[in-house]
Amino acid sequence: MIGIKIIGLGKSIPQRCLTNDEMSTFVDTSDEWIKSRTGISKRHVAVTETVETLATMAAKEALVSANLLADAIDMVIVATVSAETTMPSTASLVARNIGANRARCFDLSAACSGFIFASEVAISMMKQSGYKNILVIGAEVLSNRLDWEDRGTCVIFGDGAGAVIYQLSQEENQILSIETGTDASGAELITLPVQAEESPFYKGKSKRPVIGMDGRKVYVFATTKVPESIEKVVTNAKLSLENIDWFILHQANSRIMDSVAQKLSVPKERFFKNIQDYGNTSAASIPMALYDASSQFKSGDQIVLSGFGAGLTWGTMLLRWS
Ligand code: UT7
Repeated sequence: MIGIKIIGLGKSIPQRCLTNDEMSTFVDTSDEWIKSRTGISKRHVAVTETVETLATMAAKEALVSANLLADAIDMVIVATVSAETTMPSTASLVARNIGANRARCFDLSAACSGFIFASEVAISMMKQSGYKNILVIGAEVLSNRLDWEDRGTCVIFGDGAGAVIYQLSQEENQILSIETGTDASGAELITLPVQAEESPFYKGKSKRPVIGMDGRKVYVFATTKVPESIEKVVTNAKLSLENIDWFILHQANSRIMDSVAQKLSVPKERFFKNIQDYGNTSAASIPMALYDASSQFKSGDQIVLSGFGAGLTWGTMLLRWS
């Protein structure tokens, strides 16, 4: 058999914590509004940390928890929309920092679904090409990509990184099912432009490199598409929703998670949340939540991970913990 196991997890957050109360001293908002509309109480924001340093710290912890040397890593994929550089990739910088000297490295951009997309790529490449160990990281510093006068976005996002090491196995398979998708008709509902420099030739207008979002439309997309995707993945694995012990959704909004639970007729207690502490960390949110939830997992637990966001993208995978 060709199976895939998860052998290591890591997480990293910036030191600086920003509470709703502190935020409401310089943004026209309130703790009451943010908590009741999103479930967020605080988030961490980078002061000196970068996507590279957060990703590196999460990767180092994942290696320790896997009891693996960096030289054993065949590939590093970083899912991010906020890298400091598009060249080199953050994955190359992380590989250099941890000493993953044999690894092929690249970044992947699928926003808040990025970790699931990167996991699907990693798993496919392990099965196709026989790579033994792949490090997948979701890492973001969004706090410096926000318009701090746009209260519809700046209160939501936070910074952090989460890392997972997948290993090819002849004995065991923990990844039961996975699906990803894109509805490109909604491509411009969440945007983060890259600022272009003036040139003697280029006549296009440069856009501010800050996040723009039509929150209401994205909310409708998420609460429609995520339940469909979860049902598909669970059915593909010939299981039913009652067999699922944990639902770990992209931590975008507590109300989205409650609505998905209701649509699936699943008790909302089975939906893990850490949004209250970190806000929406885009591609980092699922591996960070997996890390935080993992202390509660029992062997044999069946776990759904589901991401959704800009693109509009979505992705869901089903794991059996061991
Ligand atoms: O990670 C990528 C995926 N992203 C998502 O999944 C985001 C999905 N969308 C959402 O989570 C929600 O749409 C938001 C949390 C972004 C916004 O919540 P909402 O309930 O949809 O609020 P809204 O944008 O419809 O605004 C309602 C009211 C407006 O005031 P009026 O026009 O009714 O007077 C806003 O101006 O709330 C106001 N408002 C705020 N008030 C205080 C918007 N943001 C704030 C704020 N503080 N931070």
